[in-house]
Amino acid sequence: MTATHQSRSTQRPQRWLPLGPETWRIDLLRIVLRISAALGVIVYVPSVYFANESGMTSVVVLDTAAIAAILGLSYAVSLPARLRAICTCLVFYLLGAGLLIAIGAISQIYLFGFSVLATLLLSMRWGLATAALNAATMLAIGYLGRAAPEMVVPRWTFDYAGWTVITANFAMVNVSLVVAMGAVIAALETALARANDARDLLRIAGLTARLGGWRIDVARQHLVWSDEVCEIHGLPADRQPTVDEALAYYSPEWREIISGAVARCSREGTPFDLEAVIVTAKGTPLWVRAIGNPHCNDRGVVTHVHGSIQDITPQKLAEARHAKLEAQFLQAQKMETIGNFAGGVAHDFNNLMTVVLSYAELLAEELEPGDPMRVDLGEIRSAGLRATGLTRQLLAFSRRQVLQPKVVELGEIVAGMENMLRRLIGEDVELATSCAAQLGKVLVDPGQIEQVIMNLAVNARDAMPQGGMLTIETKAVALDEPFAAEHAGIHPGTHVMLAVSDTGTGIDKATQARMFEPFFTTKERGKGTGLGLATVFGIVQQSGGTIWVYSEPGKGTTFKLYFPVAEHAEPPRASVAPAARATLHGTETILLVEDEEAVRTLIRTILTKYGYNVLAAQNVGDAFLLCDQHPAKIDLLLTDVVMPRMSGRQLAERLSPIRPDMKVLYMSGYTDDAVVRHGVLEATLAFIQKPITPEPLARKIRAVLDASG
Ligand SMILES: Nc1ncnc2c1ncn2[C@@H]1O[C@H](COP(=O)(O)OP(=O)(O)OP(=O)(O)O)[C@@H](O)[C@H]1O
Ligand SMILES: [Mg+2]
Repeated sequence: MTATHQSRSTQRPQRWLPLGPETWRIDLLRIVLRISAALGVIVYVPSVYFANESGMTSVVVLDTAAIAAILGLSYAVSLPARLRAICTCLVFYLLGAGLLIAIGAISQIYLFGFSVLATLLLSMRWGLATAALNAATMLAIGYLGRAAPEMVVPRWTFDYAGWTVITANFAMVNVSLVVAMGAVIAALETALARANDARDLLRIAGLTARLGGWRIDVARQHLVWSDEVCEIHGLPADRQPTVDEALAYYSPEWREIISGAVARCSREGTPFDLEAVIVTAKGTPLWVRAIGNPHCNDRGVVTHVHGSIQDITPQKLAEARHAKLEAQFLQAQKMETIGNFAGGVAHDFNNLMTVVLSYAELLAEELEPGDPMRVDLGEIRSAGLRATGLTRQLLAFSRRQVLQPKVVELGEIVAGMENMLRRLIGEDVELATSCAAQLGKVLVDPGQIEQVIMNLAVNARDAMPQGGMLTIETKAVALDEPFAAEHAGIHPGTHVMLAVSDTGTGIDKATQARMFEPFFTTKERGKGTGLGLATVFGIVQQSGGTIWVYSEPGKGTTFKLYFPVAEHAEPPRASVAPAARATLHGTETILLVEDEEAVRTLIRTILTKYGYNVLAAQNVGDAFLLCDQHPAKIDLLLTDVVMPRMSGRQLAERLSPIRPDMKVLYMSGYTDDAVVRHGVLEATLAFIQKPITPEPLARKIRAVLDASG
């Protein structure tokens, strides 16, 4: 505040000494000319009168010429300042030299004046040059015998040496005077330049950091703002509002707090440091940091409150963005942990269900058609299937189910589901779809995306018990850097968006934070399992997409799913012909590799039952050994995908040179990222999903064995 105050006062010259800090030489010239003109006119009349009386015509001519020149220069404001300064100095020189001849020694004073003026108006170098010119003039006048008669000192008889000494003394004083003045001026100019630099840098710092100072005179309740504070408030630089006007810029919820802090600081000297929102003169809301400190007099009474105001809007926005991203990151981490846990449980559970279901089926086949045990086995089977459904959802959530992606138009999937969705949501809910054609294709598993849309639609229906509107929209969107910066997991670029909106109850923040967790439901017992959104989340993530929810209680909900546009055409499908034979039996040799003993035994039992010759291996090493020991043809390798030490895929690749004709069928409850990238099995490979049950396995095996190539 003080610095700015000073800078303003230095810019404006004071009335009694009208010299500007930067323009002082020009200002000085103007003063000198004005004074010389005014005094010159007064002095001119008596000087000319006495000179005339004494018959000194040359003096009359000199005085007249000098005053005319001074008056002329006073009015010749259009001439360049430096030229006017040189001419002014010359007038004094010519006057001094002329009078030295006409009047005598006393006239040396004019030559002094000439030097002083040249130093002040031009520079020290000019001053020194004029000192030399003065000395030369004096010598010349003396040597040429043109000095006025009384210049001859009474006790001295005039000689060249004496005159030289007089000149030397004059020159010494003249030079000292010029150097002294020059040094003072140089020192002042250096100090001034430094002060100007400091002021300018302070201003640059203030403008860059959007930071300014302010001061309140407590007794007068008078406020001063720096230019930067005016700028922050959207006001012109020299606007100085009153204290009340300044407080009125704070938004209502902060005004009391700030005015209270200022009052306390004025009264008790309590400093403050607050962050608040102002609304500028242009109507823009800004976050500012206002710091205030007391300034006390000798008696400890607070005379001023002063401090700073800084626009901290960019920092505040960055903080908010950071907090949002951090929350998103924590949420993603939480989902990852739950996913790992759920996926692990589901995987083992899946293997157990394979055994339960398959033996139930095998047992059922052993029984006579009318056997009452068949009913019990049917119960076991249906409970097992429900459990399998549950595990499949958990695997979907943990992104470990096997997807069979195709390049598709999302709009076509939605269009194909419309009738089914209408039946699903009932008559009270209206369905509107808006699917732009040719959005760009995406690489997803169509069956799974149908599952996603269905789960979202069912949730929407449940949120609109009194009826409402369900809107499903697909469109192409270009997500830019700023959007990606605020949404963890999104990469900038073209995406296809699928939005499912309802006009239902909306979702509060607490539910939003947990709704993607498996088994989280707000529905009453028996109404919801809480696996709907968990499945949606897993499928979308595993398909390389992201999901965002926008909802406000009472205003409905929109789920937005973004999928990256597929750049490559769909991979060719495996040409697995349907089983042509009526029978599912076969006599081929199958090398079975499965590390889980119960599953291995089960599959061996099933395959043997269907007539196959089974070589069962518990691990990769056994598989190689069996290959070695079995000289005859092995028709099919049936292998688990995820096994210790070597994946099923790697095993198949190793065996292929030894057994080039051997076909391969993979089986898995889930895929592991390390084995099959992103859990997506290549579409060209034959695959069967666990849990494995006898008939589908036999059918698949026949299909692979009978496929050409
Ligand atoms: N469109 C929606 N409107 C309001 N709340 C919703 C909406 N979608 C989800 N929710 C909330 O999120 C919770 C979790 O949804 P989710 O689909 O995972 O489970 P659920 O619908 O309760 O059960 P499930 O889908 O397994 O039958 C719901 O219980 C509900 O509170
Ligand atoms: Mg649901």
